[in-house]
Formats: sequence, structure tokens, C-alpha cells
Amino acid sequence: MSNEKKSNWDSSQLRKYNLTFTEIPRFDCDDPRTDELISQQKPVVILNSNLAASAQKWNLEYLETHMGDADYTVYLSRNHKFKYFDEKKVQKLNGDIGKGIDFMQPTKKVDMKLSEFIRRLKEWKRGDDRLYLQQGLNNTVGPEIVRDFVNFNWEFCNGKQSKHNWGPLTYNLLLIGMEGNVTPCHYDEQQNLFAQIYGYKRCILFPPSEFECLYPYPVHHPHDRQSMVDFDKPDYSKFPKFKDAKAYESVLGPGEVLYIPVYWWHHIESIMRGGHTITVNFWYKDSPNAKISYPLKDFQKVAIMRNIEKMLLDVLKDPKEVGPLLKTMVLGRFTE
Ligand code: OGA
Ligand code: FE
Repeated sequence: MSNEKKSNWDSSQLRKYNLTFTEIPRFDCDDPRTDELISQQKPVVILNSNLAASAQKWNLEYLETHMGDADYTVYLSRNHKFKYFDEKKVQKLNGDIGKGIDFMQPTKKVDMKLSEFIRRLKEWKRGDDRLYLQQGLNNTVGPEIVRDFVNFNWEFCNGKQSKHNWGPLTYNLLLIGMEGNVTPCHYDEQQNLFAQIYGYKRCILFPPSEFECLYPYPVHHPHDRQSMVDFDKPDYSKFPKFKDAKAYESVLGPGEVLYIPVYWWHHIESIMRGGHTITVNFWYKDSPNAKISYPLKDFQKVAIMRNIEKMLLDVLKDPKEVGPLLKTMVLGRFTE
């Protein structure tokens, strides 16, 4: 880590994992190496882009004063982990298709006024549920926040979108987290410009080629796209290749933007004893008309595997039959 960063946080504020890390490169937005990395779909911390400069004044007080009094989406967790789950896939499991598959929701999704969220953040003590606000920036957030949103540096991100042939911007998520909160390792199917507004977040990334080391849940599972490995206590007997996972990392501070390439795995933690954190992300669809060239890239192979799993479930109907069929197909035929 660079010395400059060390003044704002130190390694005792980072959770300990049994992983080896390579530092994600950090370049100025004007440095040609920034676009070079983006075009190779490799992560980069982009400095001085002013992408969310108009939001740099956001803190709890500002948001409490200026955000509307609508209900916002807040996740509650009994521990520090906020593992995402797909509600539609939970419904399907509860229907015919998933008989016999247990699923316990690891977090609770609730609607909350911002004032209550902030009160609970301030009064939080050990043993209480942890909170993580994750709300799309839409017109319920109030006119002042919308004005700041309109004043984002759209020239910068629209420029990245056209230069790198991304599809449309689909969503801006506002994340307000407590110190120590963790979003466990997962990948998204979109390009992400992750703009840090307030506080420090440690981002641990892995390339799509690490699929075998990270053991994603089956596609039909509510935890689709999440790693089954618990980074706090990896079960190496079940997930031996996690030992070989090659991680990239960076601690992101206010004003810094991390490019998280589509299909790259990411684990994100609000550093401990660092106060709360505020982030706005920019999710873009991937290139709609990318031409396919060979050899295929690792992320394209992940997409193929996802499609095969989906097709098998479509015809077999029962998720419990997918694994055995794949085994029959592969073992002794495509394995040594
Ligand atoms: C994302 C993401 C989680 C977090 O932006 O894709 O996973 O805790 N964010 O910031
Ligand atoms: Fe994500």
C-alpha cells in the first residue's frame, strides 16, 4: 500500500484473510494506462476523475437534511456479512422446483426512513443487527440529492461507456454502510464504476479465471454468483483450490473510483473503526454487440457455463438432477 494512504488507515483496520494480494494499479484519469486497463477488462483505481465530486459533501448530516422521507431499502444482518440473495430464486425454491432444498435468508431486507436508519447507526451497540442501506438513486431521494446526481461528471463516465463500447447505464446504487460491514465475494454481470464518497472501503478482486478457486453456488440457487467459500473460515476440505486463489486489492478513499470489470469477483469491506462509508456505483450493461473472437475469454466461458446450467435445469426441472447428470457426462470421459 502506498505511504500516502497509510495516514488515513492502517492494516489493523483490515480483516485478516489467508490470501496473497497484489495491489490494484492506481492511475490518474488522464493517464493512458487507465483506458488501457479498462479496455483489457482489468481493474484500475481511477484518480481525480471528479465522477462524484458533487456528492463529496455527502455525509450522514447532509443526507439526513436533504434526502426525502421515502422508505429506503436497508439490509439487516446478525453478523458483519451481507450476502446477497435473489428473492425470485427463493420463491422458485419454495415452489415445486426446489422441494427438499433448504435456504435460510442470511439478511433481512426492510424499508426504513433515512432518519430511523441514521438513528440506529448512531445508537448501534454490539449485539444489535448491523445495517447496510442499499438504495437505487431514483426520484424518491429528494430534489437536492437529484441535483447532486445531475451534477456528477457524466462526461467522464459517458466517455468510458462509449470508448469501451459498454451498453446502457442500468442503475446507480447508493450504499451507506457501517464500519466493518462486508459484502462477501461475488461477481456481477455488469461493468461497474464504483465511486467512493465517504470513508474507506477495502476491495478484494479476483479475475473470472478464478472460477474453480471460488466455487460459486449453482445458478438456480438464491446465492447464484456468490462464492460458497466463507473467507473468515474457509473449509479447505470442501474448497481446496481456494488456497490457490490470486487476489487483487485496494483500499479506496473519498473521490477514488474503482473500475470493477464485468464478471470479476469482488469482496468489499468497510474498514473497521473507520466510521461509516458512502459509495455510489454505476452499473453498465456489457458491450451489446461485441464480436466474438477466439480463443474465448475467461468471462465468456463463465457465461457459457451459466447457460449450460440454466438449460439443464429447464429440461430436467429438478435442480437436484443437474449435478448427477453433469457428473455422468464428465467423469471418466472428460477427466483423466
Ligand atoms: C457492487 C458491490 C458492495 C459494497 O457495487 O457491485 O458489490 O459493499 N458493492 O459496496
Ligand atoms: Fe457487486
